[in-house]
Amino acid sequence: MDSEIISRLKEAVGSDYVITDEEKARPFLIDWTKRFRGRAVVVRPGSTEEVSRVMAVAYDTRTPVVPQSGGTTLVGGSIPDDSGRAILLSLGRMNRIEEIDTGNDTVTVEAGLILEQLHRAVEEKGRFFPLSFGTQGSAQIGGALATNAGGTAVLRYGNMRDLCLGLEVVLPDGRVMTALRGLRKDNTGYDLKQLFIGSEGTLGVITRAVLKLFPIPRGRQTALVGIPDLESSVKLLDRVKAAAGSELTGFELIQRKCIERVAEQLPGVELPGPVDDCPWWILAELSSQAQEGASLEAILAEAFEAGEVANAYLAQSLSDSEAFWRIRESIPEADAIVGNNLHNDVSLKISLIPEFLEVTVKRLYDAYPWLDPSLYGHLGDGNIHFNIGSIPSNLAFENEEGIRRITYEEVVKRNGSISAEHGIGQLKRGHFLALKDPLELEIMERISQAIDPRGIMNPGKLLADRKD
Ligand code: LAC
Ligand code: ZN
Repeated sequence: MDSEIISRLKEAVGSDYVITDEEKARPFLIDWTKRFRGRAVVVRPGSTEEVSRVMAVAYDTRTPVVPQSGGTTLVGGSIPDDSGRAILLSLGRMNRIEEIDTGNDTVTVEAGLILEQLHRAVEEKGRFFPLSFGTQGSAQIGGALATNAGGTAVLRYGNMRDLCLGLEVVLPDGRVMTALRGLRKDNTGYDLKQLFIGSEGTLGVITRAVLKLFPIPRGRQTALVGIPDLESSVKLLDRVKAAAGSELTGFELIQRKCIERVAEQLPGVELPGPVDDCPWWILAELSSQAQEGASLEAILAEAFEAGEVANAYLAQSLSDSEAFWRIRESIPEADAIVGNNLHNDVSLKISLIPEFLEVTVKRLYDAYPWLDPSLYGHLGDGNIHFNIGSIPSNLAFENEEGIRRITYEEVVKRNGSISAEHGIGQLKRGHFLALKDPLELEIMERISQAIDPRGIMNPGKLLADRKD
């Protein structure tokens, strides 16, 4: 990068926070999966005002900017290309909690706050922030908003779109849109914050947000449930919904192999007992404000009679519940250790999922007999992590295009989505551009042109390269 630009960046944030040394910059330039790497000057602003100054320099000099939070998208969403031209804008220093408003049930935070720290801080005030997933110890709020993160409680509380009541964004030219009103109802024109949520850093830099809080759930019932076949998963979900209504908080589908892999790779994670008697497992959770709600045990007993359930471990304590969730949330880490997986996060209508899984896995096995799938996901949201690995591990990567093509053909045939929570990033851009409705794509491109006329925001992610 031009030394003139570097000295302007040092003026903007202080020279301690502009990293040009390759060794020191490296941790910011490689993602969690270790698959995506790039080169850039790393800039670490400490306030919205500093972000604004950095963006003004970038706009003026037409320098690409790649905003970065925890770096756990799995799709290379916050890793620059290897040209060395870009600014990697790391928000991690902006990690303050500005206000917990228990009267309005909202919290105002900076974008670099780590999700798990938010959980702890609001809990001390008797409140609950429901977004939850395996990498919450490193994921940051700005990235969770930029990718509209989902996680394991969406069927009860919604995803980040539903949990956000206000946003501050620094625009590509450095101007600051501060819309931190924290209102539950506001019909004064377009809801602009929703444009930035899920835009994967292609429209601006999210710097602060107002998020919704909830009461801490009191009664919590968790079970790890073995089912005889995939059809039973959807039947059991119907049954639990009918009996427990809005108390149903989590309903995760897990292929047995994923549980076994966690036990093998992460010896600290304990299983409640053997799992080899069932091909698929469900992690189900009910939670309620009152101590007495629907009984998960009674619902499962009825399901057992109906043949939908073959085995079940019921959590007897909060620490059992946490241990069950630890198994589920450790699956991506175990997969990352094995390192043979093509990650996917497809979504379909819930009722289509058993048939989709059976047909697509069979089609893939016919083409690639050495496959080693790792299937799990948020069945209650119709979102499956349809991860395809191989033994030996290099074969999945060598045949990536073909494997993804078959998978996405089956998704699109059923009107599903090729990305339900992790976004497009650089990994799925080609498939997204080929498969998305052309008019929807055109509208997205026009919005991008209007807000980012110089095309400096996170180029190479989501949308096609600008022609100009
Ligand atoms: C999960 C991440 C991979 O559901 O989205 O564990
Ligand atoms: Zn997920």
